[in-house]
Amino acid sequence: MTKNIAVLPGDGIGPEIIAEAIKVLNKVAEKFGHEFKFTYVDIGGCSIDKYGVPITEDGMEKCKNAHSVLLGAVGGPKWDGCDPSIRPEKALLKVRKELGLFANLRPTKLFPQLADASPLKESVMGEGIDLLIVRELTGGVYFGDRDTSEKNGELVATDIMSYSQHEIERIGRVAFETARKRGKKLASVDKANVLDTSRLWRKIMHELKEEYSDVEYSDILVDNTAMQLIKNPTQFDVLVTENMFGDILSDEASMLTGSIGMMPSASLSEGTLGMYEPIHGSAPDIAGQNIANSLGTILSAAMMLRYSFNMADEADAIEGAVNSVLDKGYRTADIMQDGCVRLGCKEMGDAVSDCI
Ligand code: IPM
Ligand code: MG
Repeated sequence: MTKNIAVLPGDGIGPEIIAEAIKVLNKVAEKFGHEFKFTYVDIGGCSIDKYGVPITEDGMEKCKNAHSVLLGAVGGPKWDGCDPSIRPEKALLKVRKELGLFANLRPTKLFPQLADASPLKESVMGEGIDLLIVRELTGGVYFGDRDTSEKNGELVATDIMSYSQHEIERIGRVAFETARKRGKKLASVDKANVLDTSRLWRKIMHELKEEYSDVEYSDILVDNTAMQLIKNPTQFDVLVTENMFGDILSDEASMLTGSIGMMPSASLSEGTLGMYEPIHGSAPDIAGQNIANSLGTILSAAMMLRYSFNMADEADAIEGAVNSVLDKGYRTADIMQDGCVRLGCKEMGDAVSDCI
């Protein structure tokens, strides 16, 4: 099969981790007889420096015309002072919105080899962590109107959070369908004791749960969820939540896996076009030092094969290879343990590629 992939390395460690995912994808192509064609697009700060905008219209077209998009990370202190309308993150939100990527899947799986890297006690981790956060990605406060203006002699800032029925229903369906294929348990996370958006969210989830009676459904408040993730993380299978709650909870949950550097994500649309990226940021403090963990991006490439290209065996090959390198005791700095072999970002990519 021939697939066109738009590659957006971005800023900070983005280019380093993306190079390793591309290396692994090339190995998969060779092994399974596919052709992956890569079209590179500047996004984030590097695009601001070159073109004055965080992504060009030409770049957007390349993403829209690809079979899928692979992204590294955007942003960094260099662009913190930019006007909010052209900040690096703005490009990421634009791609998510214009490509209709409303469903963000963030699997949180602890590789047993990394049990010691997790800050939680073994007794809390039980049989292991394997949960999935389904985050709504194109609505809520990320996309509402915002404004900072002077009122009564002082500055007042406003960010609007809004959700429409159809936005909630479509993410709810993705969550129920996904739960059906996993442990058949779904917890819907909201703040229905305070927010109208959450009350509508809950109403629609309750309508949907009648259609998915084979899925064990529960409501849980977001503050309690934050606590339960640490207290008893194995109670969860699939969690579904709105955009900002999902942003925060997925960073928290990532630590259950030992390091945020391990966590991949898929952002899906109604069709097969998806964007795949690690959930971590551009980590400017360690950029260019060959110490970043490339596994989150490599695992994101595996999700791309599985979800956008329907290549389950190929995805299994990548995930199996990651498992093998961890078995061999290879670790990047963030997941380093006594008695293991420390590898750089590049060497980790080589090791995974060699195992395919
Ligand atoms: C993420 C990131 C982004 C988000 C930032 C970079 C805009 O934190 O993908 O979780 O908030 O969605
Ligand atoms: Mg985040």
